[in-house]
Amino acid sequence: MARLQSQNGQCAVLLPSHFVRIFSFREYVQRRWLTSNLNLEVPNTETGYGLGHSPRELDRLHFQGRVLAPYTRQFFVDAGLKAGMRVLDVGSGIGEVSFIVAELVGPKGYVLGVDRSAEAVERARTRAIRANIRGEDGSTVMSAGAAGKVEFAVGDPAAMHFEEPFDAIVGRFVLMYQSDPAASLRNMLRYLREDGVVAFQEADTTTCRAWPASPVFDEAARWLAEGLRVSGARPELGLEMNALYLDCGLPSPKMRMDVVVSGEDESPVYELLAEAVRSLEPTLVKSKIAPKETKMEGLAERMRKEVAAKRGVAMLYGLVGAWARKPKTKN
Ligand SMILES: C[S@@+](CC[C@H](N)C(=O)[O-])C[C@H]1O[C@@H](n2cnc3c(N)ncnc32)[C@H](O)[C@@H]1O
Repeated sequence: MARLQSQNGQCAVLLPSHFVRIFSFREYVQRRWLTSNLNLEVPNTETGYGLGHSPRELDRLHFQGRVLAPYTRQFFVDAGLKAGMRVLDVGSGIGEVSFIVAELVGPKGYVLGVDRSAEAVERARTRAIRANIRGEDGSTVMSAGAAGKVEFAVGDPAAMHFEEPFDAIVGRFVLMYQSDPAASLRNMLRYLREDGVVAFQEADTTTCRAWPASPVFDEAARWLAEGLRVSGARPELGLEMNALYLDCGLPSPKMRMDVVVSGEDESPVYELLAEAVRSLEPTLVKSKIAPKETKMEGLAERMRKEVAAKRGVAMLYGLVGAWARKPKTKN
């Protein structure tokens, strides 16, 4: 794993190359995805969220969450998440980020994951219960052991009222889907205490490419960026976060970027890109970004063979993290 650090120490790029040792992606695909319900949902383009919430898309979030977990955990440690904190996880999906935060805040901490998809929240609650985190009434799950209390709710945190302020507001791949990310974040910041932590990780799809250039991989990377864009998302929001934080009255955030890059045969990059493109397929075909006859089946394998034939590497979308503290109000 290589780590590059900028001179001011605020921006780091991690280039891991040993994902094969984390778990086998091919096995996962064979065992789980091929047996999952392949009903593709029609994406809700009005909300800027083109990926939908089909069972297969929720599986993709789980898969992606396992790959990115070490980077998200380190990001939150750097951002200052600590034991005992009360944290809001915005766009919690199936709970990948909430569960990491629950570990960090410990038994005296509290995490509220909020997502506007009832299907995603349902899956998050089920996972919490299955992971031996005791459920009381299905809506409240209390963690056993070392983790904090976790709850999941359906809604848009930018339009919700919370009784108590949070010590931190966090999220991953969520502000990029808001029609007005600054307005959303500003609304949520009303519920962050002074000096509280704001820590979001968002995408930069411009990092997603093969080297040397490989037509199948690079076309899939273009589909991802364009599919997100036409569905109303901002595929490079990660790079806009300095301006976004400033627009919300926050200081310039500290930032880092983590990018999965690998030439290994077992690299997760191929499946992650192929599955994201697959979730966007209805949008891609409707908007004529990808031809109707495009074969999504076997796409990961085609990309893998193409990159391997050149002894090259494939890079995933970048995970750009930005963190800052809410300024104290001047009297
Ligand atoms: C790409 S997923 C990421 C999920 C999770 N943060 C993770 O990293 O695994 C984005 C999630 O944000 C949710 N979402 C998008 N906009 C939202 C909003 N305004 N309020 C609540 N949830 C939102 C979507 O429903 C989706 O589940």
